[in-house]
Amino acid sequence: MEVLTGRTRAATTITALLILFSVYAPAASAQTFAKGADVSWITQMEASGYRWQNDNGQQQDLLQILKDHGMNTIRLRVWVNPSGGWNGVNDVVAKAVRAKNAGFRIMIDFHYSDSWADPGQQTKPAAWRTHTFEQLMADVYQHTFNTMNTLATNGIFPEWVQVGNETNNGMLWEDGRASANMRNYAWLVNSGYDAVKAVSPNSKVIVHVSNAYDNALFRWNFDGLRANGARWDIIGMSLYPEPGNWQTLNSQALANMNDMRSRYGKGVMIVEVGMSWDQATASKAFLQDIIARTRNAGGLGVLYWEPQTYNWQGYSKGAWNTNGRPTIALDAFIEGSTPPPGGSVTLQENLTGFCGVDGTLDSNHAGFTGTGFANTSNALNTTVRWRVNAAAAANYTFQWRFANGSTGNRPGNLRINGTTGANVTLQATGAWTTWTNSGSFTAALRAGANDIALVASTSGGLANIDSMTVTGTGVSVSACN
Ligand code: GCU
Ligand code: CA
Ligand code: CA
Repeated sequence: MEVLTGRTRAATTITALLILFSVYAPAASAQTFAKGADVSWITQMEASGYRWQNDNGQQQDLLQILKDHGMNTIRLRVWVNPSGGWNGVNDVVAKAVRAKNAGFRIMIDFHYSDSWADPGQQTKPAAWRTHTFEQLMADVYQHTFNTMNTLATNGIFPEWVQVGNETNNGMLWEDGRASANMRNYAWLVNSGYDAVKAVSPNSKVIVHVSNAYDNALFRWNFDGLRANGARWDIIGMSLYPEPGNWQTLNSQALANMNDMRSRYGKGVMIVEVGMSWDQATASKAFLQDIIARTRNAGGLGVLYWEPQTYNWQGYSKGAWNTNGRPTIALDAFIEGSTPPPGGSVTLQENLTGFCGVDGTLDSNHAGFTGTGFANTSNALNTTVRWRVNAAAAANYTFQWRFANGSTGNRPGNLRINGTTGANVTLQATGAWTTWTNSGSFTAALRAGANDIALVASTSGGLANIDSMTVTGTGVSVSACN
């Protein structure tokens, strides 16, 4: 296709742009969760003869396969003057038009380099190498403006625009190295921000840092930007865990997302994830979990980085098999279609998910299961606590096995994530050795980890609690806080 270039047409397209705004400007805020992929390599791979097959082994357009796996967003990187032209403005516009025509939302990712920009390299474009800092700010503005303008001329107003890629330590080294000159980094961010908004006021500007689990890094970077007057709309994060540590890193990433939202009042988004293609089972579990946790944290989306790679340039963290079909990891983006393992869990006092009792763990009355039972100290508001993970926000049922050798009922309340819900009556069973199941109580859980408690609602305290069973799709035990 023919691509109009912003550099040559900028002057003549201003008027056209004013008209385009009213026609093509995206809705101020799209509410749906973004799920998608950076597929910047797609055109270069196709030119090298790469094709993709769907789950059934039929060749199909890559974008269609991604859409059929629940994706709605395409991310594309921009290099300033790349050798070969890949990821230069013409290539980016061609891919963006193709993605838009296929119904995708668009994210544009400015690297401000002729090649890769990441935590280890933020190399100036060759054409800018000798420029003063003032010129570099103008360079960032012009390159951003021209690229955005060319996209606009082709009908593309991206929903999100990244100013910089993995700028853990700033951009355009040495001038914009954050650890040496935080002010310069902030001012370069603002140059990009202003250029984005000048062309596309509704686009959300993302500043992107890697290692989503590293709260200290994020605080250092964004505290520095804030202190130097930087403007941005969304905090973007990368996350590339291993099969053995994704649970830990995901929960740290969740804590970091919550901290970023409350500390800066900005949206958060996981703009890059990946795991080795040949660890597809672990990768799928990781992706399902980070999607659920990001939703849970009020995050805006999760994007996979170059999932379509197979035998390509040595990159091993795609989600494609060597036979040209997606791995099962990609199914994680089809939420709800594959019920995660579970259905019912019974939490015992000696196992993960039992989080404590205001009282003692006893075993002095026979008939219990597991290693004993929870005995509250017989005071108002004493609790027994558990933590479970729900695959999705939904209703789940709760039941307790208990014994109550006293003559009266022992009432309590079910408390979920700090909110008091159903009354749970534990009636007299006749003896402390006579155990029975309570009725079933239905309550809503949120996606991700939930804190569950039984709370004594009289000074008599609860009965002795042997175990709790939670039933519902995709329920699992969760480590306690
Ligand atoms: C007895 C019984 C305890 C029980 C307690 C109660 O002390 O041995 O297991 O918890 O009564 O009244 O709650
Ligand atoms: Ca007791
Ligand atoms: Ca027990």
